[in-house]
Amino acid sequence: MKVKKAVIPAAGLGTRMLPATKTVPKEMLPMVDKPAIQYIVEEAVAAGIEDILIVTNRAKSAMDDYFDYYPELEDRLNASRKERELAEVRRAADLANIFYVRQKETKGLGHAIWRAKHFVGDEPFAVLLGDDIMRAKTPVIGQLIQAAEKYQCSAVGVQEVSTESISRYSSVKVEPLESNVFTVSDVVEKPLREQIFSNYAILGRYVLYPCIFDILEDLKPGVGGEIQLTDGLRQLCQRKRMVAVDFEGRRYDTGNVTGFLEATIDFALDHPLTEKWLKAYIKEKAKEL
Ligand code: UTP
Repeated sequence: MKVKKAVIPAAGLGTRMLPATKTVPKEMLPMVDKPAIQYIVEEAVAAGIEDILIVTNRAKSAMDDYFDYYPELEDRLNASRKERELAEVRRAADLANIFYVRQKETKGLGHAIWRAKHFVGDEPFAVLLGDDIMRAKTPVIGQLIQAAEKYQCSAVGVQEVSTESISRYSSVKVEPLESNVFTVSDVVEKPLREQIFSNYAILGRYVLYPCIFDILEDLKPGVGGEIQLTDGLRQLCQRKRMVAVDFEGRRYDTGNVTGFLEATIDFALDHPLTEKWLKAYIKEKAKEL
């Protein structure tokens, strides 16, 4: 079955980026000249997705406004012949059909995804976490969709991380299937050393079958008192086939200060407006260090 819909959970409180995220959603913090959420929507669109649901909360309406038209601003840009800015402002609003649902209580990622049940209906769907930005030749979610369509099953995006850092992620139990694709038989959230299945960590991209909703509905809170998607994935992979795709690309966790800065620098080094200037600035700064 084709994957045509995506869900972007973006209702977290963003406590690692306080105080900035007290009033500005972390998804709206800019990397060069675009907010983080736009990079994620663009990844989904590049993979052929047209309908996107963003899971938000009462403090995040800046996201709904961002993907809307803004006639007063557009008229002003038009009158002052700022064609590039006008095109960029319009492009963001026309990227995809974007829908919103609120997670009324911040009960965890699994609960946020469960809110997408009515939007998703009876089809497999993509999930892109709202603070994980990817840079890749082929959109990372596209790489997962390819595997999910080939094997007609759920897929999770993984990469190898160090033994010291796997305790911050979900560790997956895997058996090789083909070059960069594995069969998943178990998953554990934030494992203690003795619980580690492998150093393959799930990193912010998923293709899920709708039976996940029945599982999420009955889940009890797990690690950190939150309804954990990982606990749902654990049951899903034990009931139905699931694959892990060791994807090509670099992932940035823009929900913490260092990940945010790494993404900002790398995107700025790649951006026609800032590339030359930033290289010269870094060289100049390096002399002072
Ligand atoms: P994170 O743990 O990275 O985000 O959740 P957070 O909770 O905003 O971060 P901190 O730890 O307080 O800084 C992973 C993803 O799940 C979403 C987040 O928005 C992020 O995209 N999420 C998390 C929800 O949508 N709802 C929740 O209840 C929890």
